[in-house]
Amino acid sequence: MIVCRSKAEIDKLRRVNQLVAEVLAELRRMAAPGVTTADIDRVAEERVRAAGAEPAFKGYHGYPATVCVSANEQVVHGIPSKRPLVEGDILSIDMGARLDGFFGDCAVTVPIGTVSPQASELLRVTEEALFHGIEAVIGAAIQQHVEAHGFSVVREFVGHGIGTALHEEPQIANYGPGGRGPRLAEGMVLAIEPMVNAGKPAVKVLSDGWTAVTRDGSLSAHFEHAVVVSAEGREILTLLPADAARAAGRALSGAPTEA
Ligand code: MF3
Ligand code: CO
Repeated sequence: MIVCRSKAEIDKLRRVNQLVAEVLAELRRMAAPGVTTADIDRVAEERVRAAGAEPAFKGYHGYPATVCVSANEQVVHGIPSKRPLVEGDILSIDMGARLDGFFGDCAVTVPIGTVSPQASELLRVTEEALFHGIEAVIGAAIQQHVEAHGFSVVREFVGHGIGTALHEEPQIANYGPGGRGPRLAEGMVLAIEPMVNAGKPAVKVLSDGWTAVTRDGSLSAHFEHAVVVSAEGREILTLLPADAARAAGRALSGAPTEA
């Protein structure tokens, strides 16, 4: 069953998703050469708890940390470690939190210092694909944008409804064919999260049971926003007011609805 949320519930979802976005903005600023992903995880957990919220991923099916940090050929669900980031890495930082019974979830892939032209194109195209997907809420729109740039969409992981659980119905594939999903209705809250590989789409999970990597070793990027379907269009719950103008430039047409 897909739940349509009331205004009061959406207010709570907005609060927790804005918190996640604010913490993520701080984490992306600290992601630099020499910093470890364990350092990033520690700050993430401190900030989430200081706001009276709880990490959503820690303990979820035994996941051990507050953030997922996936570098370079890692696609998603990388576990924080003591390895320092190095110039030229790309790093996906994915974080969820729970506040007042409701969940937030957001991911961004950031360049560490100066990165290769291919890496920066991959980041740009993946974030653009996310905004195409937010407008259409059709995986086919994501896939079309990604493949037009010579990249590929990961099939094994999908977006999801989000509310009083981290993962609710429906599942949201990042690929087509379109036109088969449930009808959109006002009050649905969806986390849309394309994962895009520079090479082939195949992934495998490492022996830690979590870290997904590209089979061909190519770079991978991941961006995620939580979005409400409203009468006026879409409201991106994880978009900070300061980032709204930049996001408008990533969209297919017009500006995304602001919080
Ligand atoms: N954003 C990811 C998702 O929605 C991260 C989940 S990590 C996990 O699936 F540990 F919670 F599984
Ligand atoms: Co998610």
